[in-house]
Order: sequence, then C-alpha cells, then structure tokens
Amino acid sequence: MDTIIVKTIHIADQTPFQTEDQTLFDQAVLAVQQGQLVAFPTETVYGLGANALDPDAVLKIFKAKGRPSDNPLIIHIARKDQIHALVKNITPLAKKMIDTFMPGPITLVFEKADIVPYEVTAGLETVAIRIPSHPIAHLFLEKAKIPVAAPSANVSGKPSPTTAKHVYDDLKGKIPYIIDGGACDFGVESTVVDVTGEIPVILRPGTITAEQIFNLSGSVSGIGSCLHNTNSYESALNQNTPDTPMSPGMKYKHYSPKAKVILADAPNIEQRIKVAMELAKDIISAGKKVGIFGCDEIVSAIKANNLISGDALHTNSYGPSGDTKAASARLFFALREMDEEGVDVVIAEALPIKGIGVAYMNRLLKSAGVNTK
Ligand code: TXA
Ligand code: MG
Repeated sequence: MDTIIVKTIHIADQTPFQTEDQTLFDQAVLAVQQGQLVAFPTETVYGLGANALDPDAVLKIFKAKGRPSDNPLIIHIARKDQIHALVKNITPLAKKMIDTFMPGPITLVFEKADIVPYEVTAGLETVAIRIPSHPIAHLFLEKAKIPVAAPSANVSGKPSPTTAKHVYDDLKGKIPYIIDGGACDFGVESTVVDVTGEIPVILRPGTITAEQIFNLSGSVSGIGSCLHNTNSYESALNQNTPDTPMSPGMKYKHYSPKAKVILADAPNIEQRIKVAMELAKDIISAGKKVGIFGCDEIVSAIKANNLISGDALHTNSYGPSGDTKAASARLFFALREMDEEGVDVVIAEALPIKGIGVAYMNRLLKSAGVNTK
C-alpha cells in the first residue's frame, strides 16, 4: 500500500486553516469514513485514526501498530455535544472538567454507552474521550462526522510521533494517508483522567496538571497527585495509585528508542551538568556514541569539554534551564533523532517532578525502562 502524505498550511490568525490540496484531504476523510486508517496531527502527538463505531476498522489499528489487544483506545470527537451518544452518564465532576478543559490536551474516562464497541475499550465498561484543540484535527473530525478511535500513531513501544515524518518512519506502507500538520505543540500525550466518580483520578499525567485539576475540583488522586514538590519518583509518580494499573496502557514497555536511556539526575542544574559530564566521559571512553538531551547550559558545558566532543557526541537542547514545557515538547523528537544519529546511550536531564515535570519524568522514566505505573 502507498502511504500518501497530505500537506496542510496553517496561516497564523486565520481560521479555518487551509489544506494545501483540498481533494487529498477530502480523500483522507472519505477513507476514514470507509473503514481505513488515517494518521492526523493533534496538539499533543499524532494519532492513528479509525471509525470508532466500526469494529473491523478499529482492529486494523491494533494490527498496524502491533498493539496489545487489551490496551483500550481513546475516541476523538470534534464537539462536546457528541459526547452524550458515547457515554452512559456525565457526573457533575465530568461536566466541570468538560466545561473547563475541553477542547484541549485532556482525555476523560466515562462509563461507556452500548454503541461503543468493546474493540475500542478492550473489553472495559468505560470509554476514554478526547476533543483535540488542533485546528487540523478539528477539521478532520468535523468533516468525518464520526467518532474516531485513535492511539498515538507510532509502532507500539516506540516514542510517540510528534511530526508526520515520525509517523511515516513507523507506518509507511501500512496506512493509506498521513495528514501533515507540522510539529505538535505539546509533544507528550494528553492527561487521562477518570471522571466516573466524585474525585478525579489521573491515570496518565500530561500537560493539564494535577494542580489545575485540583484547583478546579478541590480534590485529585492518581499519578502525580502528590502536589508538593518532591524529588522522590515513588511518592510523585506512584502515590494513590492502585496496584494494578487502571489505565491498561501504562503497564507496557513504552517510549523506547533503540539507544539505552540514562538520567542526569541531581537536585540543581550545576550538579546535573557535573553528572552529565561524568556519565558522558565514561560512555565515550567505553568506545560508544553518546547523546545528550538537556537544557542549553548542559549542552554548552558538554560541548566545551574537549574530552567529549567529536563524532562520538550528539546533542539536542530544549532551550534554557527550567523550561519544562519545552523539554516535554521536545523529548520524543530528541529520542527519535538520537536513533537516527546512531547514538548508543542517551543521557537525558531529569527535571523536578511538579507541574508538567510530572508528565516529562513519567515518559522519561519509562523510556529509560524504570518501572513506574
Ligand atoms: O494525546 C493523546 O492522548 C494521544 C492523541 C493521539 O490523542 N493519544 C494517545 O493514545 O496517547 P494512546 O492509545 O497512545 O494512549 C491512550 C491511553 C492508554 O494508556 C490507554 O490505556 C488509556 O489511554 N485508556 C484508553 N481507554 C481507557 C479506559 N477506558 N480506561 C482507562 N484508560 C484508558
Ligand atoms: Mg501511545
């Protein structure tokens, strides 16, 4: 199968955006309506979409990604009024969360309505719903007029795709269309929150933080719900979480590049520079190629050290120290780039586990193979 990339142009301050080739865009919309797979951009990561109400189409997603069949999918819709048909009950908490955070980088888990196939929910009685704010995702979903089930558009286990090229690298020949909307703004997946009860339970941390959810609802539990700043992964990332993962996807190997990932982990930037420097020297003297993912300060310090520079070094900086949002946006991109550059070991900067740092550290620890929920 040929994989066609559908180009789009987003002209700032002009809505709706323009598609470079309207006919191709319409063909991609028709393809998803007819049971094919179409990858599309969102503000978090690229999604791999199929008609959520067509079990055969949904099963194609699992096949193309090599995704375990017990890992449920998120249903994407264009507008809030489409939620009612897909869920049994909207609790007062759910209503507040919808009103405040949707559209945006959040996914809410409800009791599912009967029309939602078990192929989407992997047999669960709940369903995850998301309304992306990305204008191209919105146009795609609006034109498709159907709910679209979509996981991240990567081969299972790899870092999520934040550009159309990443999707192409993973899925070329397996899907007919990729809609190219450029690089994703947030670069980590949505915050997944169970809103079936009275207290919001964070099943996967993301750009919408535990603090924001707490400020809205007066309570929060689940991953990252420990609201004080902590340097303990255990307390921040595993607190108040049940022993069995409630979000089935969180138990799998995830976000793993071919390179080994290790952390430059220390309480402040000066110490992180030192740790990164020592680790890099060891890796290079073992004859391996080292990759550095960190802030400008770390990257410049490493580059200035003539024991480390040269062909055995590849760096990727997210910007000035402390910009956790930029670090999250760039993490998956950098991990994929490290593989393209033939890096053996990536040293990635650990960041404080608060705000978006919870999502960043959750993804980074998983890519390093550290066992967190
Ligand atoms: O930002 C995102 O959420 C992206 C874009 C494409 O929307 N999608 C995404 O999908 O990250 P995926 O499939 O890679 O991750 C979905 C997560 C998994 O951890 C899955 O287990 C969880 O959501 N999930 C889906 N349905 C669920 C449900 N009914 N109950 C609990 N967790 C659920
Ligand atoms: Mg995924």
